Amino acid sequence: MNQATRDNSVWFQEWANEYDNTLGKVSRHHALLDLAVEVSGIQRDDKVLDIGCGTGLLSLKFLNAADCRITAIDSSPQMLRLFQEKIEKFGLTEKIRCLQISAEEMEFPSGQFDIIAATVSLHHVKEKGPVIRKIHEYLNDGGRFVLGDIDMDTTGRLDDPERLARILKYLTLELELAMREGGVQAFERMYDNGKKHILNDGEYCIGFDQWAELCRNAGFERVKTYSLKESGFFKVLVARK
Ligand SMILES: C[S@@+](CC[C@H](N)C(=O)[O-])C[C@H]1O[C@@H](n2cnc3c(N)ncnc32)[C@H](O)[C@@H]1O
Repeated sequence: MNQATRDNSVWFQEWANEYDNTLGKVSRHHALLDLAVEVSGIQRDDKVLDIGCGTGLLSLKFLNAADCRITAIDSSPQMLRLFQEKIEKFGLTEKIRCLQISAEEMEFPSGQFDIIAATVSLHHVKEKGPVIRKIHEYLNDGGRFVLGDIDMDTTGRLDDPERLARILKYLTLELELAMREGGVQAFERMYDNGKKHILNDGEYCIGFDQWAELCRNAGFERVKTYSLKESGFFKVLVARK
């Protein structure tokens, strides 16, 4: 694990126990995951890779939609432990396997998956191009990459006031929502997280035009983006191999 991934992982380990009570309580987050599942075209017996699965909110929605098989990866052992507890509690050990590995370091055989999905996890990856190329390789022909994330370009100079204003617009909405739906605990966590967005400290968001270009450069043929009606800042992209 490289240094940046390790630092990131520490942050998520601290967050793990709170996750389902913070972002996991925000209705917009569930709407994003529901949209990702809806547009994925998931079918019975599909093989799915969930990158940055966290506590398993997305994987469980996939399983609820279709009797599929899921490989779930995350760099945080704490997040995976919480997910594993759910898997055992719900008797899903034959349907989901969890692996502690980062997106940067994952290795799978080519053409292995029907769907590779990632919700609000890949913006934590600094060098996105190589990861998107691996995703393309691990999908079978006709397979889909489904990305749900924040549509916000935080690249550029940290001392650029226009960049700051752009990020603050997003944070104003996000913090209001966190307070309304998750209370002070959610607000506090998202407030801390906001500084990481501003300083590009483990949060490296790009816009969906940039994601789409990375997908095309990796060899994906059809790329389509869906907007979340609950928030203009969140989108789901489906790229077909
Ligand atoms: C905001 S959570 C999203 C969890 C889940 N996908 C969801 O939508 O609820 C981000 C997750 O990505 C994981 N993560 C961050 N950087 C990662 C990386 N480089 N490789 C794999 N997982 C990563 C974190 O540990 C965390 O569990």
